[in-house]
Amino acid sequence: MSCENCLNRRAFLAKSAAAAAAAALVGGCGNGVFGPPLPAHSAGGVPSGTVTITVAQFPGLATVDKLVQIDVERAVKRTGASSFLALSTICTHQGCDAAVNTANQIECPCHGSRFANDGSVINGPDNSPPTTIRPLTQIATQYDPQTDRLTIG
Ligand code: FES
Repeated sequence: MSCENCLNRRAFLAKSAAAAAAAALVGGCGNGVFGPPLPAHSAGGVPSGTVTITVAQFPGLATVDKLVQIDVERAVKRTGASSFLALSTICTHQGCDAAVNTANQIECPCHGSRFANDGSVINGPDNSPPTTIRPLTQIATQYDPQTDRLTIG
């Protein structure tokens, strides 16, 4: 049986290997993203606009000193009966969106900087000393105990 347009074994294997390599590249880490996330903001930036929440809708805010992620760029902790500390979670290294972790800290996914729940630096990028970067930026808050509404920013 003749086959004029068929691939020979060597050509078939070469094309299969190239296709597999291309598929591996496109697949990357499984989410189509190569390497660490890209910075989303300028380093240490402050989120634009204000956000108003009802404190009771964030159960973690019933506990003093517990950080709660409010949105992608803001975390809040209660500091007293009617006082709160809000932090921008925009990393002061290169501007990635950091987030509250299970250790009640804020951690950046890009290069691993970690911040304490008051915004101070625990370690800089790639475990560098805390003095490598600035603390997280604090954001003004205004709380109305009558309505349990907290305005951030
Ligand atoms: S941008 Fe956060 S550690 Fe580099």
